Order: sequence, then C-alpha cells, then structure tokens
Amino acid sequence: MIVKLVARVSVLEGKNKMAFIELNNIVKQFAVKNKEVTAVNGVSLTIEQGDVYGIVGYSGAGKSTLVRLLNGLELPTSGDVIIQGENIATFSQSKLRNFRKKVGMIFQHFNLLWSRTVLENIELPLELAGVAKSQRKERALELLDLVGLQGRGDAYPAQLSGGQKQRVGIARALANNPDILLCDEATSALDPQTTDEVLELLAKINRELNLTIILITHEMHVVRKICNKVAVMELGSVVESGSVSNVFRNPQQAVTKRFVQQELQPETDDQALIAAFIANNPEGKIITLEFKENNASEAVISKIIRKFPVDVNIVAGQIQQANGAAFGTLTILLTGETQAIQAVIAYLHQEEVGVLEYEQE
Ligand SMILES: Nc1ncnc2c1ncn2[C@@H]1O[C@H](COP(=O)(O)OP(=O)(O)O)[C@@H](O)[C@H]1O
Ligand SMILES: [Mg+2]
Repeated sequence: MIVKLVARVSVLEGKNKMAFIELNNIVKQFAVKNKEVTAVNGVSLTIEQGDVYGIVGYSGAGKSTLVRLLNGLELPTSGDVIIQGENIATFSQSKLRNFRKKVGMIFQHFNLLWSRTVLENIELPLELAGVAKSQRKERALELLDLVGLQGRGDAYPAQLSGGQKQRVGIARALANNPDILLCDEATSALDPQTTDEVLELLAKINRELNLTIILITHEMHVVRKICNKVAVMELGSVVESGSVSNVFRNPQQAVTKRFVQQELQPETDDQALIAAFIANNPEGKIITLEFKENNASEAVISKIIRKFPVDVNIVAGQIQQANGAAFGTLTILLTGETQAIQAVIAYLHQEEVGVLEYEQE
C-alpha cells in the first residue's frame, strides 16, 4: 500500500575524540565438527571514551562473539583488539585479570545468583576481588542507591520484577568501577516501558560516571534512545557504521534500511487505522510524514493549516526524541481541492520532511 518515500536530509559529521577502543580487522573462527565457523569476519571499529556505542544485527550476526572479544574472554583468530593503545593479546595473565575487572557486563537473563540477596549479588565481584566485608557492603549500598533500589538490598532476585533484576545486574557490573560496560541484549527480555527505564538508567550512568557503554541489540529503538554511534552487523561483518543520526537519516545497506524501517514504519495498529480512514474518506488524502531530524513537527502542521486551503486531521503518530532530535512519523488526513493537497505535498518536500503516500488498492 505504501507507494513512495521522498526527501532525504543532508549529512553532518561529529567531532573528534581520543580513540579508546580499536578493533582492527578482527576475525574469529570456531571449529565445529571439523568445520570452521566464522563468527566475526574482518571487523574494524573505533569506539571513543564516553560513547554509547550500539551494535545492531539479527541473530547469528556475530554480536555476542564480538563482545567476548572486547572483554578478553576470547582472543581473535586474527586482528587486534587495542584498548587505550595496548593490544590485549600481549597482556600477561594478571594484567588480563585486572583488565577484565574494569569491564562490566550485563546480560539478557540477568545472570543473578538466586540463593543470594540483592546486596550479596552486588557484592559478588568485590568478594572475588578480595575486598573486605565492611567495604563491600558500603559500596553495594551506594550502588543500590545509584540504580534506584534503595531498601531492597535484603530481597531475593525472585521477588523482583524484570526491570529491578536488571538494575541489580547493572549495580553488580559497576561494583569494581569499570571503565567499560558491555550490554548484551540487556533489555531484550523486558517490556517496552521497563526497557525505557533501564535505558534511562544506563544513559544516566554514562553521563555521571563517564562510562563507555557498548550495547548490543536487535532493536533499533534501543539504539535511537541512548546511543550516539551505531554499527550494523550482518554475517560477521560490520556493513555500516556512524553517528546514530546519520545512519537513521541516510541508511545505505539493505539490512540497515530494514532496521531503520522497523522504527519509522507506522505501527501495525496504525496501519489498520490508516486503512479504515482511507476507506471512510474517499475525497481526502492520507499521508505519513517522516521526521528524520529536528523538523519541528508542530510548526510544520500549523504552517500547513495557515498556508493552504486544506483541513488537517491527525490519524496516528509517534514522534520521539533521539539525541536531541525529533524522529518519527505522523499520519494525517488532508481534505480539500486536489491542487491544494498537491501544494501541501510539494511544501513538505521543500521542508525536507519525508512523505509516504497511500493509494487505495
Ligand atoms: N563458541 C562457539 N562455537 C561455535 N560457534 C559459535 C560459538 N560462538 C558463536 N558461534 C557461532 O557464530 C555465529 C555468531 O554467533 P553470535 O556471536 O552468538 O551471534 P549473535 O550474538 O549476533 O546472535 C553463529 O553462527 C554461532 O553459532
Ligand atoms: Mg547474541
């Protein structure tokens, strides 16, 4: 039913910062039943300190393997993982252990110990690091506060909601004051509202602790919400990367377009609503506006009403904020003379608002 999509917006580049993590042409192969499986196939990436770096891809793309290479749990078959100028393949055992303490990790299924209280779970990495009991407790209480779980220290994981469990996971990951936090599908088991709450917590931690966050996901929503950079993986390779706003505005690869589309397409519920509107308003025209950067959606709508002899009805819409810019769709019903409606569409093109037009089947 969707006929065409017009108008793409110009591209701006971000500023330079010091390279913090560099992956140089990483290949990782596994031997499975006498066969080589290439999980990561020639990945090069630069991650800067303070980045919230999203890695997106469908299942099997090699994302989790990449994460295990980043914390030194696996070594690459070839290529180099460089952390602040040092190749982790050259680390001694003790240096590698210390490095791993500085890399926190959270998981889709939280990986909490069910027989331990919340506080004891958070204390675990400190216990393993040989920190004295009183200090451990003090630090764990501090972390409990940071993640918004004050007063729940004596609860057991089974007594907590999914979002609260992930908060415990985050507190535990931060116990050793890491420099890097790796999140592997950390919100994939959560409902949308809880996902947003956990993402807001991660954004706060990134800001307040200047922690570099690498966030793996198959949901573009997660990237849009908190990442500044994104790399898209397919079959072990990074097929596209850059600032989130550039990739969202101007996706190049088919897989990226699918991910971005997953975000910008009107929801299925809206599609049904739109179809009903088209059926009930044969003289009107339904269009979906795509706001891909700060087009100031309200201003655009009020200008249409002022400048053109048409009526505008809002049918459906989801305008959201990402990194200070507005993204999203707004579906409107335009009624008026055909010429006036065409003039509105021309005006939208001129304003660089994307326009999806629908036609009756
Ligand atoms: N330890 C392993 N041994 C064998 N094959 C593996 C191993 N880890 C990952 N793979 C394979 O590598 C590919 C990428 O897996 P993974 O990194 O888990 O992808 P993703 O996290 O994007 O779903 C898959 O085909 C997977 O089966
Ligand atoms: Mg995975």
